[in-house]
Amino acid sequence: MKTFQILFLILVVAGMAVSCNRQKVGFGNSEVLTYQEPYRPQFHFSPAVNWMNDPNGMVYYDGEFHLFYQYYPDSNVWGPMHWGHAVSRDLVHWQHLPIALYPDSLGYIFSGSAVMDLNNTSGLGEPGKPPMIAIFTYHNQNLRKMGRDDCEYQGMAYSIDKGRTWVKYKNNPVLPNPGLPDFRDPKVSWHAGTGKWIMTLAAGDHVCFYTSPDLKKWKLESEFGKKLGAHGGVWECPDLFELPVANDSGTRKWVLFVSINPGAPNGGSGTQYFIGSFDGHAFNWEESKIKWIDYGMDNYAGVTWSNVEKRRIFLGWMSNWAYAQVVPTHPWRSAMTVPRELSLFFIGNDYLLKSNPVKELDQLSTLLVSKENISVDAKGTELNFNGAELAVSKVKMDVSFENAEELIIEISNPKGQEIKLGYKPGSGELYVNRTKAGKSDFDTTFASRIHQVVVGQKMERVLMEMLIDKSSVEFFFDEGAYALTDLVFPEADYNSIKIQARSGEAHINTIQVYTMQSVWNKSAP
Ligand code: FRU
Repeated sequence: MKTFQILFLILVVAGMAVSCNRQKVGFGNSEVLTYQEPYRPQFHFSPAVNWMNDPNGMVYYDGEFHLFYQYYPDSNVWGPMHWGHAVSRDLVHWQHLPIALYPDSLGYIFSGSAVMDLNNTSGLGEPGKPPMIAIFTYHNQNLRKMGRDDCEYQGMAYSIDKGRTWVKYKNNPVLPNPGLPDFRDPKVSWHAGTGKWIMTLAAGDHVCFYTSPDLKKWKLESEFGKKLGAHGGVWECPDLFELPVANDSGTRKWVLFVSINPGAPNGGSGTQYFIGSFDGHAFNWEESKIKWIDYGMDNYAGVTWSNVEKRRIFLGWMSNWAYAQVVPTHPWRSAMTVPRELSLFFIGNDYLLKSNPVKELDQLSTLLVSKENISVDAKGTELNFNGAELAVSKVKMDVSFENAEELIIEISNPKGQEIKLGYKPGSGELYVNRTKAGKSDFDTTFASRIHQVVVGQKMERVLMEMLIDKSSVEFFFDEGAYALTDLVFPEADYNSIKIQARSGEAHINTIQVYTMQSVWNKSAP
């Protein structure tokens, strides 16, 4: 071979190696993905390119956590929905797989769930290969355009190769539309007490519970929620599961999630939860106060993984329909929250659902600073970092409020852009203020208000945790009793944390700041 031919060959092989590592972007032919684009999350799940919304079909099987998601592969705004797919062995590192479900003549593939049919009740498995079954909403846009109400119905697909290839069930739809314009987002689970599958489905202003012996024939059992809970928008993406009460051994309660858009307490989309009992037929809400799984703006349509033993793990779409399609990211749009472990407590007179980042995330953190016993007053105490370190970080704090009227944690960049987290022990107000957090000209509502919740019980000392990942801050107050998740678009990396107390002093018992590793292009150790 001539020298130039050998040289040419070497160049081709080298080029191929590079492009395996750095995926080509679907649009803008010459664009190469680095995963270092402005605002690109480094340890949250985001699609390589294009539009994503709700998490779908979350199921665990044979060492893999499956994450399907609402995906539009042709653009980074919403369009005809597909199910994108990724798997992880540790909930932290994700392998991005080909699209699992494509729209067909019955419609777009809207949100839904997946279960492992371990006893092959559906008969769709093969010996030694139980089927993974996806149950989703078909949304027929042609019928919708014709003004018809019956445009959403439920379909099913199955896979006997661990979710790698899918076959749509030949007799779809498995649940036809009963004449309701919003009839979607089936969450299916196995109910051991009655030996049946349960489907929890959102139907406009209520949820419907259906049962089935085989995932193919569904019977309506009951309805819940007309005139109960929040009704500022349409009900979507429910979930239903049982949890032990962590501080009351022997007691178990049922938790019902209902996402609502708009109508969340801080504007736009949000997810309420109801605590009660469920007997396989009907849900009985045992409280009257409306509770939300997150009091920030950006945690929607979240549900939990099925088939995980002894843990209830949640993931939400980290955005809000109020502005999701115009946030300044390219060539992808949207990320998920970190996976969160849920636990239920009885505190005061109330059940409280706590959510905390899964412990698997700890493998990404490296300690940067650890300090203890710092008194803070109005002058405050400041920690400064290299931007890159704080921009992808975790902060843990143990604080006593002493006689302070307000504690403020300010995270800022050299351009003076800041996000503030605050707590007023007297009134119980806990808030996130992103009004000056960075770029916000893409939507008039984005930076227009402070997001807050009033904490019921009196707090003197709390543990808090904060996850910062380029364009998001997730704040977990009082060991996850209150979560606030907010997107931010700072025009330079945040590099400073300042903690202040107003009208009195507070005491930081301990504070640790960790930098977090990127998960892009790395597989689980
Ligand atoms: C919630 C939702 C679901 C629907 C899907 C469509 O964000 O509106 O109700 O199935 O998104 O993408």
